[in-house]
Formats: sequence, structure tokens, C-alpha cells
Amino acid sequence: MNTQTADSAFIRACRRQQVSSVPVWYMRQAGRSLPEYRATRAGTAMLDATSNPDLITEITLQPVRRYGVDAAILFSDIVVPLRAAGLDIDIRPGIGPVVGKPVRDEGDVARLRTLDPGDVAFVSRAVEMLTAELGGIPLIGFAGGPFTLACYLVDGGPSKTFDRTRSLMYGSPALWESLLGRLADITITFLQAQVLAGASALQLFDSWAGILSPEDYRRSVLPFSSRIFAALAAEGVPAIHFGVGTGELLGLLGEAGADVVGVDWRVPLDEAVHRVAPGKALQGNLDPAVLLAPWPVIEERARQVLERGRTAESHIFNLGHGVLPETDPDVLARLTDLVHAIPAGSVG
Ligand code: CP3
Repeated sequence: MNTQTADSAFIRACRRQQVSSVPVWYMRQAGRSLPEYRATRAGTAMLDATSNPDLITEITLQPVRRYGVDAAILFSDIVVPLRAAGLDIDIRPGIGPVVGKPVRDEGDVARLRTLDPGDVAFVSRAVEMLTAELGGIPLIGFAGGPFTLACYLVDGGPSKTFDRTRSLMYGSPALWESLLGRLADITITFLQAQVLAGASALQLFDSWAGILSPEDYRRSVLPFSSRIFAALAAEGVPAIHFGVGTGELLGLLGEAGADVVGVDWRVPLDEAVHRVAPGKALQGNLDPAVLLAPWPVIEERARQVLERGRTAESHIFNLGHGVLPETDPDVLARLTDLVHAIPAGSVG
């Protein structure tokens, strides 16, 4: 475990310990909203960039330098461990993950082999370089949640509703369970490699879990997410669990075993508090689209998020989903300063 970051505001807030101001970081803080990211990435395919320790390190550090956020998040992608395990999967610019041969039967699942830590040595190397560089600033490692990974594998690419995935889940429970079991194993190895190399916290992005009913989530996904969090608990780093449109699932996201539940913008934090069992911190939840509005609107909305966050046992400020590519970096810098300038527990 990385002991240098134990007293940072971010880690303290994850553990529901007192902080002087609410820590802040942004999902997708590294990425197309930053001109330096676009320059670094020019001419390099996404999955080539995420395989190169020097590029991973540089891109991860860019938002930390620019904004002074309380945590860095590893520049990688949810498909990286799948590709490292031999799967034919790519990220198409402007589209997202696309799979060569979607998973439809036992034969397809059987081809999903386990991940060896050596398969992601480039990630371990980047995490080592980053933690040396970051010192007391925590690095958040991450992976895709089992449902979200299955969505891309079964549907074969992005979709709004992932109908094929849901129908396979309903109609072929045994196949579904063997698929999610393999994905959970890959995810555990991937996250353990990041913690072993020095990551201070982890986030599981089950971004699309919100398209499931609570009953189906509990039956078909929760056992696998729980297995992931249980396996990682031994590593002693705080874990965050996030999905989009998960208003009805917030309690279950916590129940899976995370220390922190990420909330999107649809549920106010003072309502989320009632949906999550005691003993959890909350993360969120400014609508990323608010950042495209004039500053007074942003400030008012950010203060409202902080005020509502005070009803939680602990709060980490973030957006309700990733930074939109058209966001002005100066706005994120100003927002970070605003959050830092307000003493925790005193939103005026
Ligand atoms: O938060 C961060 O700064 C860390 C970087 C990060 C990326 N992907 C880099 C990336 C993280 C945490 C992810 C996770 C991820 N990837 C998720 C879960 C989080 C979420 O947003 O819900 C999902 C669903 C994916 C799959 C994926 N990868 C999509 C849908 C896309 C967008 C496709 C596009 O071009 O619009 C990607 C590509 C991707 N991953 C980009 C980045 C910076 C953009 C591609 C580029 O810069 O060329």
C-alpha cells in the first residue's frame, strides 16, 4: 500500500476522516478538453497511448499540473485489460470500444483467458513512475465494472440500451455467469497490479449498470462486483463504485463493498444519503453540462453540490460523469479553486 498519500485530503475523505476542504478530482480530467492532451496524443492511436508508460505518465499528470486536483486518475481505459488478455477489441475515435467478434456462446466465453500481471506490465510500470512523481498526491487506479465490460463484449460496441447484453443475461444465465466470472477474474488481477505498483485508491466504473432494474442488478451483477471488492479489500486501499443513471441502484453499489459511492447528477447528494447505507462516503455530482454555462451558474450549482454533500458522512467533489471534450480548462481550474477555497462544513 502507498503510505505517502494516507494523510491526503482525498484518502482521508474516502475513509470518512476530517478534512479542511472537500477534495476534488474529475472523471475524464485527462482527455480531449486539454490542448496538451490533444498535442501529446496527436498521431498516436488511443490503445497505443494506453500501452506506453511514458505517455500514460505524461497524460495522467497533465490535469494535476493544470488544476491542482486532489487526485490523479490513471490514463488508461476499461478495455485495456481485455485487450491484454488477448481479446480483439479496439477504441474507434468518436465511437468507443468495438469488438471483432462479439461474445454470443460458450465458445466465445472460453476464449476469454485469465489475465497474467505480466500482460499489463506497461500499466504497472506507469503506476510506479507516477507514484514516484506524485509523492503525496494519490493516484486512483481503475477498471470497468463487470456489467459494463459485458455490454461491450456482447453488443460488440457502444449502444444506448445494450439490448443483446440484457437479453443474454435474461435468457442464458449460465453463460452470463461464466462470462461475468471471467471478467471479474481479469478485473481483480488488473486492479491488484495497479495497487501493487502504488495506486492509492481504486474506482470501478460500472457505467452502464443503470440500465438494469435493482432486482436484476442484485441477481446478475452484484455477486461479481462483490467478489471484486472483496478480493481488493485485502489490499487496504479505498474503493469507489460508480455508474451512470444508477439512482435506483445506489444502495446496491454501496452494498457491493465499496467505501465510496459515486453519484451521477440525477440524484441530489442529500437524497443519495438516504439511498446508501451508513458507513459510506459519497462522490459527485455536478452535471458536466453545467460547465458549459456561464460562470455564475457554475458557481451557484457547485456551491449547491457542496452544501448537499455536507449531509453525507464524507464528500468528494466530482462531476456526475466525465468532463465533456468541449469544456474550457480554465473553467475547471476556477472550479477547483472554488471548491478548495470553501472550508469543509461551511458552505456559505
Ligand atoms: O478519467 C480519466 O481521466 C481517466 C481516463 C479514462 C478513459 N476511459 C480514457 C479515455 C477512463 C476512466 C475511462 C473509462 C471508460 N472507458 C469508461 C467508463 C467511464 C465512463 O466514461 O463512463 C467507458 C465506458 C469507456 C469506454 C470508452 N473509451 C468510451 C465510451 C470512449 C469514448 C469514445 C470517443 O472517442 O468519444 C473511450 C475512449 C477514451 N477513453 C477517451 C479517453 C480520454 C477518448 C479517446 C481519445 O482521446 O482519443
